[in-house]
Amino acid sequence: MTDWSTLVAPGFSELDSFALGETVAGVQARYGLDEVVKLNWNENLFGPLPGVVEAVREELDGVALYPELVNTAFREEVARYVGTKPESVVPGHGTLALIGTLATVFLRPGDRVVVPAPAYGLYAQLSAIRGASVERVALRELALDLDAMARAASETSARIVWVCDPHNPTGSALDRAKWERFLDALPAGCVAIVDEAYIDYLPVERRVRRELDVESGRPVVLLRSFSKFFGLAGLRLGYAIVDEGLAPYLDLVEEPFNVNCAGLAAGRASLRLTDVADRRRAEVAEARHALSQGLHDAGLEPQPSVANFVLARVDVDDVALAEGLAARGLLIRPGADFGLPGSVRITVGPIPLMDRVAAEVLAVCQALRG
Ligand SMILES: Cc1ncc(COP(=O)(O)O)c(C=O)c1O
Repeated sequence: MTDWSTLVAPGFSELDSFALGETVAGVQARYGLDEVVKLNWNENLFGPLPGVVEAVREELDGVALYPELVNTAFREEVARYVGTKPESVVPGHGTLALIGTLATVFLRPGDRVVVPAPAYGLYAQLSAIRGASVERVALRELALDLDAMARAASETSARIVWVCDPHNPTGSALDRAKWERFLDALPAGCVAIVDEAYIDYLPVERRVRRELDVESGRPVVLLRSFSKFFGLAGLRLGYAIVDEGLAPYLDLVEEPFNVNCAGLAAGRASLRLTDVADRRRAEVAEARHALSQGLHDAGLEPQPSVANFVLARVDVDDVALAEGLAARGLLIRPGADFGLPGSVRITVGPIPLMDRVAAEVLAVCQALRG
């Protein structure tokens, strides 16, 4: 037998393996359920914007050919949407792929990075795989503690500080003043990489517009996703917004043709639908409000959220609540999974579903309260 742990690169034994979780089929089989609704991964339960799947179908006629190598059409469409230059747009097969690309571009063994805790797990994991040591900075009252993060970056001479805004798992968003103060406090030599996977849920006037910082030459990199607001998680598409001088380094690390033609077509079509997107944004906000209200009425404490999920404190065991809901065909994420025991995170979906969730949460909580 080959002992692979002795052959893989050093350092892997100290890393936690990525928890893939139970499959939907597994939950169905365990509880004898015909249907299970996933409210645990912040997927888009409203679906892609109308017409986008048709744009993908048309593209499928051309699958025998490689996608365009330099992705000009996609970069131009994104640049128009964001309000930046096409040269600053680097596509990738999901934000997750771009997190890895950036870790490779910036990190070498022994480097230090700062991450908020809790936060999306991949910043720490992919940094550690590159040999970096990870400095975790706790949230303060469920918000990013930017002062402490900038201090940690200075004290450790960090190469990267990973920021997630709007933040997962809290759903909170920064304002421009807080962001600017943080950026000014970062030490020289440190890059702020901001995961904006949920930014499209914010109305344009409420966005921090960090692309202006990228354009003005600050050490800032932005990551965006088509998996959330645009409902294209299965097509795996995201992009980075970077300084033109940095883009060639990302191109060097990413394998050519790493985004597929169906995903690119879906992305381009989605960005053209600005009016439809505005209506969808309002629809999600209404459903988020319905969920928060329902959770509040069930005795939970929902946190304000700008994204497609709500974090709520519960007065019962969060794992038992999640399990009780799974038995009723609703998967949610217990806070114990991501370092916030006593809370649950629930994805926002259409209002009738949110009403059902609130009723089931109440029923399970009442049973658990005894
Ligand atoms: C903060 C954050 N970043 C990135 C992702 C994944 O994005 P993508 O599907 O574009 O890789 C998620 C998915 O849950 C997320 O919550």
